Amino acid sequence: MNIVILTGAGISAESGLGTFRDIDGLWTKYDLNDVATPEGFARNPDLVHQFYNARRMNCRTALPNDAHTALARLQRDCPGEVDLVTQNIDDLHERAGSRSVWHMHGEVTRALCDACGHRWDAPERMEPSDPCPACEAAATRPDVVWFGEIPYFLDEIQDRLERSDLFVSIGTSGSVYPAAGFVAIAAGAGAQTLELNLEPSDSSSAFTEIRHGKASELVPAWVNEVLASAK
Ligand code: APR
Repeated sequence: MNIVILTGAGISAESGLGTFRDIDGLWTKYDLNDVATPEGFARNPDLVHQFYNARRMNCRTALPNDAHTALARLQRDCPGEVDLVTQNIDDLHERAGSRSVWHMHGEVTRALCDACGHRWDAPERMEPSDPCPACEAAATRPDVVWFGEIPYFLDEIQDRLERSDLFVSIGTSGSVYPAAGFVAIAAGAGAQTLELNLEPSDSSSAFTEIRHGKASELVPAWVNEVLASAK
């Protein structure tokens, strides 16, 4: 069985990392046009670096929760292919033991040079004047995908979705495309579709099965079911 899993901010909420669109979400405190667009970065790179420096610091002090750990166990023990696609820029899947995570919105722990495209591990704090280690241009930015930019790995993800037997969406509001359209691609390819989320998402109606609750409870229970039926 080929499984494609999509995760969003909800899977890291119980690790203490904020979501975006919940009542106390990040987009209620910051204007995403200021901190998550290329135009916002051009206007005020200091503010944008401060925002992602804080995200990086929160990420370093957070720990993976039972949902991340269960998905790593599924990838390790499931006889079929398990592709893990995440919209999250944190590294909690990797720190829980997952390998080959498709970070379609980039990674806050990585830096990117806007001038030459070089990528490297981000230092704890980034500043607009930081030189690129490859070309020395002071054009460094967090390696994250902003609104108006094209997410990473879309061809690879499309390929996995078209070959999937089961698509599972975990902890995402289903409001940001192209990720919000993955359920339709998988369903069109004949896959079963399952949503695991605290509450109905914007794309709940597209799923064949929906379970509501905390990721730290729903995900380990679902992983146990899949591994038991694979025996
Ligand atoms: N368990 C499961 N789901 C949860 C939990 C939890 N403990 N806590 C919150 N959720 C759910 C919320 O109900 C909500 O539906 O997680 C979802 C989080 O939605 P968003 O805040 O919109 O986050 P996400 O879907 O990842 O956002 C997508 O938008 O701003 C951009 O680039 C950013 O990758 C992000 C993208």
